[in-house]
Amino acid sequence: MSKAETPKLTSYSPYSGIKETCLIEGESGIFYPGVRIENISYPLTISAIRAAVCSCLGVGDQPASFFQPEPFSELQAYWIDEFGLKPIKKLPDEVRFFNPVIPVLSNIPKKLKELCRSAVTTHSDFPVSALLEVEGGFIAGVNVEVSSWSLGLCAERVAVARAIAHGIRTFRTVHVHAPKSEFCSPCGSCRQVLNEFMPDEVVKLYHKDQSISSHFAQHLLPYGIISDDLKNR
Ligand code: THU
Repeated sequence: MSKAETPKLTSYSPYSGIKETCLIEGESGIFYPGVRIENISYPLTISAIRAAVCSCLGVGDQPASFFQPEPFSELQAYWIDEFGLKPIKKLPDEVRFFNPVIPVLSNIPKKLKELCRSAVTTHSDFPVSALLEVEGGFIAGVNVEVSSWSLGLCAERVAVARAIAHGIRTFRTVHVHAPKSEFCSPCGSCRQVLNEFMPDEVVKLYHKDQSISSHFAQHLLPYGIISDDLKNR
C-alpha cells in the first residue's frame, strides 16, 4: 500500500446510468475506493460499498469508517452492521488512497502463491488469487468471504473492482491461481464479469500441478448473453 494519487471515482454503469461511489477507511488509515460495477446480467452488479470493503479486507486491513455520497449502495446497512462502520461526514484534506497497481512483477506464479495468504476464506478455506495485467502493471485480487455467503467476492472480481475504482477499464491478461483446485477454473459469475471487460483477452489458469492453461475469456463463456438493447436504457 502506498500513498496514491486521487483515483478517478467513476462507476461503470452503462445500463442504469446510476453513479455510485464509496470510500472505506481501514483501521490502517488508508482509504479504499469502490464504485458501482454493472454487468449485462444485472444481478451480477457489484455495489460501491461491497467493492470497497472487499478491497480493504483483501489486503488484511479492517474496514472502520465509510464515506458515501448519495446514492447509497444496496444493502448498505449490511456492511455498516457487519463491520460497525462509522460514517465520515467530511473527508480530511489529506487522504491516503490504497494504490492497487504493482508496476513490475518478475515472477507471476510466485506472486500468485504469496497472494493466497491474504485470501479471506472464513467459510471455504479455499484461497484464490488473481493478477490482472493493465497498462502500467498488475492489479491483485484475492477471494474475500464475509458472514453473508453471497456478498463476498471472488479473487478475479476483487481485482476487477480495484481496477475500475482506480479508473482503469482496459485489461490485458488475467492470471488466476487456486492452489486447492485440481484444475483452477473461474466460476460462472467471474466468467460473465471478465467477458464484460475483456472478452478478447486471455485468462491464464495456474493449476495445482504447476501446469498453466490459457483461454480466451469469451471461450470460457460460450453463448453468453449479448444485447445492445440492454445498454443505456
Ligand atoms: N472463488 C474465486 O475466488 N474465484 C472463482 O472463480 C471461483 C471461486 C472463491 C469464492 C469463494 O471464496 C471460494 O472460492 C469457494 O467458492
